[in-house]
Amino acid sequence: MRQVPSDHRRVDDPNPAELNPPPARPDPAAPGFDPAVPGLDPAKPGLDPAAPGLDPAAGLGPAAPGLDPAAGLDPAVPGVDPAVPGHMSGAEFRAYGRQVIDWIADYYERVESLPVAARVRPGEVRAQLPAHPPEQPEPFDAVLADLDRVIMPGLTHWQHPRFFGYFPANSSGPAVLADLISTGLGVQGMLWVTSPAVTELETHVLDWFAELIGLPERFRSTGSGGGVIQDTASTATLVALLAALHRASGGEVGRSGVGSGRYTVYGSAEAHSALLKAVRMVGLGETALRLVEVDDATLAMRPDRLARLLADDAAAGATPALVLATVGTTSTTAIDPVPEIGAICRQYGAWLHVDAAYAGAAAVCPEFRWIHAGVAEFADSYAMNPHKWLLTNFDCDTFYVADRAPLVGALSVLPEFLRNADSDSGAVIDYRDWHPQLGRRFRALKLWAVLRCYGAEGLRAHIRRHVALAAEFAGRVAADPRFEVVAPHPLSLVCFRLAGPTDEPTADLHRRLNAGGRIFLTHTRVRGRYTLRLAIGGTRTEARHVAETWQAIQQAVQ
Ligand SMILES: Cc1ncc(COP(=O)(O)O)c(C=O)c1O
Repeated sequence: MRQVPSDHRRVDDPNPAELNPPPARPDPAAPGFDPAVPGLDPAKPGLDPAAPGLDPAAGLGPAAPGLDPAAGLDPAVPGVDPAVPGHMSGAEFRAYGRQVIDWIADYYERVESLPVAARVRPGEVRAQLPAHPPEQPEPFDAVLADLDRVIMPGLTHWQHPRFFGYFPANSSGPAVLADLISTGLGVQGMLWVTSPAVTELETHVLDWFAELIGLPERFRSTGSGGGVIQDTASTATLVALLAALHRASGGEVGRSGVGSGRYTVYGSAEAHSALLKAVRMVGLGETALRLVEVDDATLAMRPDRLARLLADDAAAGATPALVLATVGTTSTTAIDPVPEIGAICRQYGAWLHVDAAYAGAAAVCPEFRWIHAGVAEFADSYAMNPHKWLLTNFDCDTFYVADRAPLVGALSVLPEFLRNADSDSGAVIDYRDWHPQLGRRFRALKLWAVLRCYGAEGLRAHIRRHVALAAEFAGRVAADPRFEVVAPHPLSLVCFRLAGPTDEPTADLHRRLNAGGRIFLTHTRVRGRYTLRLAIGGTRTEARHVAETWQAIQQAVQ
């Protein structure tokens, strides 16, 4: 079993003798597995460390069967040509595969003892890599050794239970394993015919998912629209804008471009920067983007200001093409009033895209489904990221349209080499027409595995515990007169700062907290003031991690 190298040491343990702890067998009581989350319970059948195939001693180390470097390639394994230096034999693949899974399992077990954020200087990782690529094949062992030696010290541990920065990027056993299978299969799902199961599973799982988060019938494959997995919410915004421009122009922008000053786009001043990027990418230019003022208390878009901007632009002869409403803004999880925004969009024929990248996950719980108010009635498209807070490894953005025609109209290009009878029949979905790129991997497999292995019950437990932890943390902050909570915290993000007229004490607190290595927070500006964000949502974050963090914050201001 591989060990954490000495330069990647425990933050709370200054004794170098302890820096390489002996490898531990998987412990059902290991921290990070909250038995309250169905699907995370180590006592569950199938997670028993004594179960066949889960013995960490099996298949490890160079002495393991098939890892004898002298044995070389296994010519008996179909597909492995001994004439190609470097091919891994089947036996080597099995043995290294077990080793890699054990490496990841060990990592999850000890990630809590590592400094959360990378502590390398710029260039330090590259300086340890050879200047030139290898001429001779190297054993996979060498790659694993450098993973520990060179790469690990340069990582920030997003799966650390005290990683509270940005928004989380969840990882889970079912997602990792299913993603590994997807990689192993190496299939392409660009057309239905290139691997029918890739398309059909994706369509089906996205219909399941729409049901789980309460999206209406018209977003499902059985209605006029449907869902597709994009890599990220940024791509979802780009694609929504392309579909909106296609609809607004009757397809003309695809032929002659967007022109100058013809189309306008709207989002709140708190909308994600992906909107500005999308506006640039489609060639509209920044001047086409209107950032709508937010309410001072809620930090959500002000519909009255939106209505005014649309009216002015329409009067000036522009066509309002798209309004982006954010459900859960990146800075503070403010929730734009979609019903009011939707009514305004309808009046001007503007496309309404709802960006619920982080917060949308909460809608698996009926008590949080209010965040989707107005989506069913008004949204033309909707996106959320299971790869943030819903236990599905990056990348996985679920993107839905109420009407697939403008999307496919904007993105469908059919060269002769892709033509086939099934596509021509119109009876199948070809997802290449739903996003910028042609090739696509089998991402639905990991979402399918997550939905099956956790069930709706497990997903809800995951969300509920974080929302409860955030409420508790916010309560403690609010009760301490040295601090102030500066924005509503409807879900699992708490924004706070030190009370007082200047920003420097909060910025200094932030630097000191992160420098300690035990916790990691990021910041934003709320009403112009430096603000700390505590984003709770890690797969392995438990009540004790949040309590320890509050303790550390209090100690730091003593
Ligand atoms: C509201 C919102 N939209 C979009 C994004 C961009 O997400 P992605 O990295 O999937 O492009 C984020 C990222 O945090 C976000 O919070």
